[in-house]
Amino acid sequence: MAIVQFPEGFKWGAATASYQVEGAYREGGRGLSIWDTFARTPGKVFMGDNGDVACDMYHKYPEDVKMMADMGIQTYRFSIAWPRIIPDGSGAINQEGLDFYHRLVDELLKYGIEPMVTLYHWDLPQTLQDRGGWDNRETIDHFVRYAETVFESLKGKIKLWATFNEPWCVSFLSNYIGEHAPGNHDLQLATNVSHHLLVAHGRAVRKFRELGIPGQIGIVPNMEWREPYSTRQEDIDACERQAGWLNEWFIRPVMHGHYPEKLVEWFRGKGVEVPIQAGDMEDISQKIDFLGINYYTGTVGRYKENEGLFDWEEVDMGWDRTDIGWTYYPQGLYNVLMFLKNNYGEIPIYITENGACYNDEPSTDGKVHDDRRIRYIKSHLASVSRAIESGVNVKGYYAWSLMDNYEWAFGYSMRFGMTYVDYDTQVRTPKDSFKFYSKVAALNWFKI
Ligand code: BGC
Repeated sequence: MAIVQFPEGFKWGAATASYQVEGAYREGGRGLSIWDTFARTPGKVFMGDNGDVACDMYHKYPEDVKMMADMGIQTYRFSIAWPRIIPDGSGAINQEGLDFYHRLVDELLKYGIEPMVTLYHWDLPQTLQDRGGWDNRETIDHFVRYAETVFESLKGKIKLWATFNEPWCVSFLSNYIGEHAPGNHDLQLATNVSHHLLVAHGRAVRKFRELGIPGQIGIVPNMEWREPYSTRQEDIDACERQAGWLNEWFIRPVMHGHYPEKLVEWFRGKGVEVPIQAGDMEDISQKIDFLGINYYTGTVGRYKENEGLFDWEEVDMGWDRTDIGWTYYPQGLYNVLMFLKNNYGEIPIYITENGACYNDEPSTDGKVHDDRRIRYIKSHLASVSRAIESGVNVKGYYAWSLMDNYEWAFGYSMRFGMTYVDYDTQVRTPKDSFKFYSKVAALNWFKI
């Protein structure tokens, strides 16, 4: 038995995202987003589930904020739905949408819970998608105007701002692999999207500074660890390509002002170019205040000719998997954090998402005994603690998720919450992990 202790002032939080929890898809003047469309496209989402109602947080937020207070978290990360603020993406501003987020933020502040706002967690207004979405450079200007609207409206109430959640998913998962909205399968298009997102990020940061908005701003990439199967050079190279695509394609331009050269060359070999225009790299590399890191999993892989995009294949090592099929690999979080320190220095880091899908249902005693989630959280927190002891500047941790919610292409079939949601009645039941996590948030340590 050992104690895992966190530094004084370490922030304990939980996270959600607009489309996954809000519901009320036609209320308050909200416009449609690409996820409303995608979810209605046959075959795209498990059982055709959509976020029309989700956890109904749009109406139930007072109860949910109270639940956060019971949990004892000090900070809550949520995202703003662009189509609530500017329903068609580029036209009139919808005050009712802003009012909703003011009500939510005021409720959080009432309990002393610090909000972290993400501006973009995947719900692009459908009208902008109809005009090319992120492939169209005009979307960059529309995003900056949307960001400015939110900055000006909520300034003073928010200290932590994030531009984009998981740009890799927005670009490659959504436009090359095609698993998420808008569901394209085109590598050049996906690469254009990745670049335009980064320009939009940088210009929003520049706007934030120009307007003198109080607080800190950053971006939230998803990271996974990739371990080479052997020390053979071709395994190491293949692994570096695959990992670089996931972990560096976005961070390197933001932090160092250029894309990873080897990957740019590799893409070129496939006939794909990054559509860089004059001034873009300068915009992209505006100084940020923190990095938000989302970490869930990692794998071992090796070279295999003509396999996937990078001549790389994953090797199943027989490790445990969570119910969504992702490997359980807590060591990977430590590796990711050390990688960041070694390559990008002392920048403050928040773990903006970490958590596990385990589909435990209430037992006969009415409680949800999600021991596997507790084990997952404990071991990943131990990795965070090791990284902190090794000099990584981690400031806080947001569990994904506060409650079960709409898990994108998996619909409601996959549960990541520390609170169980009965989607028929909208009754919330705190799971055992909720109780474990509240203790950690109160004590700042736990036993392992
Ligand atoms: C996303 C969340 C998602 C979670 C689990 C992240 O990719 O930011 O929206 O629910 O991981 O898949």
